[in-house]
Amino acid sequence: SAAEKAGYDWFMRKEIYEQPEAVANTLLGRYDVDGALRLDQMSIAASELKRIDKIVVIACGTASYAGLVAKYAIEHWTRIPCEVELASEFRYRDPIVGPTTLVVAISQSGETADTLMAIRHAREQRARVVAICNTNGSTIPRESDGVIYTHAGPEIGVASTKGFLTQLVACYLLGLYLAQVRGTLFGDEVERLMAELEQMPDTLRGMLENQDQVLKLASDFSDNPSVLFLGRHVGYPVALEGALKLKELAYIHAEGFAAGELKHGPIALIEDRLPVFVVVPPRGRDLLHDKVVSNIQEVRARGAFTVVLAEEDDDEVSPYADVLIGLPKVSTLLQPLLAIVPLQLFACELATLKGHDVDQPRNLAKSVTVE
Ligand code: G6P
Repeated sequence: SAAEKAGYDWFMRKEIYEQPEAVANTLLGRYDVDGALRLDQMSIAASELKRIDKIVVIACGTASYAGLVAKYAIEHWTRIPCEVELASEFRYRDPIVGPTTLVVAISQSGETADTLMAIRHAREQRARVVAICNTNGSTIPRESDGVIYTHAGPEIGVASTKGFLTQLVACYLLGLYLAQVRGTLFGDEVERLMAELEQMPDTLRGMLENQDQVLKLASDFSDNPSVLFLGRHVGYPVALEGALKLKELAYIHAEGFAAGELKHGPIALIEDRLPVFVVVPPRGRDLLHDKVVSNIQEVRARGAFTVVLAEEDDDEVSPYADVLIGLPKVSTLLQPLLAIVPLQLFACELATLKGHDVDQPRNLAKSVTVE
């Protein structure tokens, strides 16, 4: 009913606007005054976590894109090799996992059959399993050694939004926790990152108040048959998730690509006026930002209409942006928390304009409990 949707047209839109609070709830009680991460239901001893020599993240759909972001963060902070695999592929290829492998199963519902089968297989090989899950007492956390609940509140819209953001936060918490246990981050780095994370609900609130530009863009693009998304580093999974949202909700052809891969194929798709969304990393000391700026020039030179998500005062990229969507300044690894929000709203709005059922897209289920 309308009352349950608190005045919003769709649960999805409501859930997008609930993200500041959801992120705050994922963070709640997880960082002690003495500066230690606390994951009470992790239930895997520190001595064991010190012996872990490989991490495998397993998930489906949107959760798998949270897993891709996790790989960048976890490897950077802990120096433990981390791979990400779609749950439906994992157990059918005789994967190498054992007692020193930590499997991280990400699932909003905690009931996805592919993910459940994958963790059962991992545990048969004596791997330790930690679940990142939004549903208390669901099957996946019950069959895992430990769990990090995201506490986002029920997610009703089939397309995941606050589920995704809070999965990202839980992955960051896990990465920082492992880094503390293993002593791989120095100085005040954990403190600095936690301060940024704790600022995130306010930052998101500010962003959500200013999305008119994205809503307008959806009406400009409502007749477009195809949209591309590009990103590098953690912007790459954001591109994949932005494209998935459009496929799920607006039923239009959408692809996410690693921007550096353009010249190896996707650039052949670029034609006049094709909308291309590009996630630009913050201007840091590395070359990443400049590489993406040149990728934007490459597609624009071939006629693409560029919608650029970049730091709000990024004047190096603004000359190449047909539309510039400003993002608040944040560390590179945390940027997906912000960059995905306009893409969620864009897909929600476009589907609304096309008259689709945003909360229950055709052919999809909220949780897929059969293989
Ligand atoms: C379904 C949903 C997706 C979701 C995926 C994984 O396909 O339509 O939105 O990302 O399942 O769900 P889970 O509950 O395991 O995160």
